[in-house]
Amino acid sequence: MSSEKVMELKGLTRAFRIGGLLTGTRLLAVDDVSLTLKAGEPAILSIVGESGSGKTTMARIMLRLLEPSGGDVYIDGRHVFAGADRMDSHEFRRFVQPIFQNPFEAFSSRKPVDSYLYETALNLGAAANRKQAREVIASALNSVGLDYGLVEGKYPNQFSGGELQRISIARALIPNPKLIVADEPVSMIDASLRMNIVNLFLQLKNERQVSFVYITHDLSTAYYVSDYIAIMYRGNLVELGPSDAILTDPQHPYTELLMDSVPKIGEKWDDIAVLPDVETKEYAVTHCKFAARCPYVRDICRQQRPPLVEIGPERQALCFRPIDYAPQTEREVAAAGI
Ligand SMILES: Nc1ncnc2c1ncn2[C@@H]1O[C@H](COP(=O)(O)OP(=O)(O)OP(=O)(O)O)[C@@H](O)[C@H]1O
Ligand SMILES: [Mg+2]
Repeated sequence: MSSEKVMELKGLTRAFRIGGLLTGTRLLAVDDVSLTLKAGEPAILSIVGESGSGKTTMARIMLRLLEPSGGDVYIDGRHVFAGADRMDSHEFRRFVQPIFQNPFEAFSSRKPVDSYLYETALNLGAAANRKQAREVIASALNSVGLDYGLVEGKYPNQFSGGELQRISIARALIPNPKLIVADEPVSMIDASLRMNIVNLFLQLKNERQVSFVYITHDLSTAYYVSDYIAIMYRGNLVELGPSDAILTDPQHPYTELLMDSVPKIGEKWDDIAVLPDVETKEYAVTHCKFAARCPYVRDICRQQRPPLVEIGPERQALCFRPIDYAPQTEREVAAAGI
């Protein structure tokens, strides 16, 4: 029986030590992040935030490429990193597949790309033999708009970046995963082709019933493609909710700042909301990390970590402000010290 949750992160934290052993500091690249991707209807969750906000660190943990320092990751209701019911690597790779930023790095220049497709099909049990694998591969390529005959025997340099990214998406589809985690999958691709890839995610969500975590700087594609948006700031998930709600009624002051300038297709958030470089010490503050820039800052924001407030159905913000008008629970009131 499959779980009601495709993925769940509970209090996920990842620290890095930077600098020397004695003089170094601890940087919280991901700081107590919790979120759930429900099963049932497949969904696209975009994770957006400026450079250094912890997106790739989160993606690597979701893909089991990096261990968290604290918290838990569950895939299909099962532990990923510890516990007796822990998923093994084979099961994990059948359920969760990656798409990386640079498709040219995903394939060696010395091997024909179809060899990767065969490896995936045979190693992950999507096909029992080469003949079956060929069918599975042809179907996956078809789903991304490519023809097996045009891919067979060719090397990476015989494709454009856009085509190669399609091939890596086809590769990811081969085991029929329930979740694809794509870290900036269009940022290395020619701007004119980006929307094609993004549209492909929408199409695959419906046709293949696969959910996506789509990591991006690009608010406009995030809004266009996603069912849910998670906004990251300095390792914190500061706002989470259905994308329409986030875009039309942002609750966190950082989200509001980002929404003030409506970006055009392909424009990066970093280009719009230009913030000073991330300072290492900002990752370490225990009060609100946005306090120094927040137009609504109050004393409490510089004293305590803000609570994660439930604003509405499936909506949360890590901020003291919504408490003013959201229904107050005793816990929230206590956390806010009001
Ligand atoms: N292996 C590492 N060792 C030390 N610090 C790291 C390591 N990996 C990431 N960091 C730091 O963690 C923070 C978050 O980095 P991360 O790459 O997750 O951000 P990001 O949101 O993906 O940024 P970008 O948009 O530039 O890709 C940054 O300050 C980064 O320097
Ligand atoms: Mg990154």
